[in-house]
Amino acid sequence: MKNQKNRETDFAKGLEGIVSNTTRIGYVDGEAGKLSYRGYDIEDLAEHSSYEETVYLLLNGKLPTLSELEEFTDKLKGNRTVADEVMNRITHLPCPCHPMSMLRSGISLLECIDDTCRIAEDLEEKKEAGIKLIAQTATLTAAVARHLQEKEPVPPDPALPHGANFLYMLRGERAKPLEERVMDLSLILHADHGMNASTFASMVVASTLSDLHSAVSSGIATLKGPLHGGANERVIRMLTGISSIAEAEAFVEKVLAEKTKIMGFGHRVYKTYEPRAKILQGYAKKLTELTGNEELFEIAQTIEKRVTEAYGSKGIFPNVDFYSGLIYHSLGIDESIFTPIFAVSRIAGWVARILEYLEDNRLFRPRAVYTGPTDLPYVPVRERG
Ligand code: CMC
Repeated sequence: MKNQKNRETDFAKGLEGIVSNTTRIGYVDGEAGKLSYRGYDIEDLAEHSSYEETVYLLLNGKLPTLSELEEFTDKLKGNRTVADEVMNRITHLPCPCHPMSMLRSGISLLECIDDTCRIAEDLEEKKEAGIKLIAQTATLTAAVARHLQEKEPVPPDPALPHGANFLYMLRGERAKPLEERVMDLSLILHADHGMNASTFASMVVASTLSDLHSAVSSGIATLKGPLHGGANERVIRMLTGISSIAEAEAFVEKVLAEKTKIMGFGHRVYKTYEPRAKILQGYAKKLTELTGNEELFEIAQTIEKRVTEAYGSKGIFPNVDFYSGLIYHSLGIDESIFTPIFAVSRIAGWVARILEYLEDNRLFRPRAVYTGPTDLPYVPVRERG
């Protein structure tokens, strides 16, 4: 390399540790193992709130009054329907593509038929489009899941809250109260999580003043990747590949001896037991008892105990994906739909952070350190050797 002209030689690969903006939406304290939305601890929200209330909080910065919550819940319910034109198209795609690609295509199609997607300067109008998309993403995801089982979509039930209705649209029948509670809880726990890759991607698109559907599509595209949204699928493959406690013990000794990464453990930010995993662990126990998957829970516990004994001092503990996979599996959901469910929830965080950023927008435009050659002589094509 000659004539390195760039003065900036310091950089953070993957923007690791770089602070790009301020936010009032949520905070992840990796050392303390704490997560909060708008100042409210996730443990309180998990225990007392609902997904609808959590979304209202993320979008509006305060907990709603009873009448505000009722109005907001009605608005979500009223926006659940997805036009047949979109449903027909995503269920007639030419290939059996990944459910996240089907979902992303569905969101793009909604943009093309939906007048709320026109590029609005007005943040209130964008918020309304966001609320509509939050409602429709659950409907689209359920339709994708049923299509993969060669079943017809189930229309939303306006009598049901968001999580319960989502399960209903997946199954075609009402779930048990504990199952509905666990789905609602999981949606609350995944709704926002700092400046993760999909949130950042959606904010970059929004910062160009592109429309909300395009920004959300890029969030879905980013979440699809196995380094981001896909770990819980791998956890359940690992757990269901083990058929007894004795096999789990042998498995964990083998992976520890081989020093291979164990799916569902470790986190870039949390260096202690993370709160989402802790909350889901308790519900995974109850749910597996209800659904007859107790042995799978015991297998998970066996792996957790031994891995944390070995790696706890290095800050490696189960992460949210360790238990969310077990939960969705116990709810009878196919592993290919685990990442789309993540999107059904996280869309709230994407929309909230996009709207907040647009209040004082600045186009994202980082730079790169150029390391290629410079001042090369141009040789016409016929004279090149
Ligand atoms: N199993 C065994 N060892 C691990 C694991 C693991 N799951 N994760 C990290 N380590 C070790 C790693 O081998 C390294 O050891 P050493 O210092 O001896 O070389 C040390 O811990 C640091 O690893 P790292 O990969 O540099 O740490 P990181 O903070 O960049 O990794 C991670 C975070 C999530 C990429 C990683 O822990 C991992 O690959 N885990 C498995 C995949 C997984 O469960 N992903 C879901 C993440 S949570 C989802 C979300 O919040 O959105």
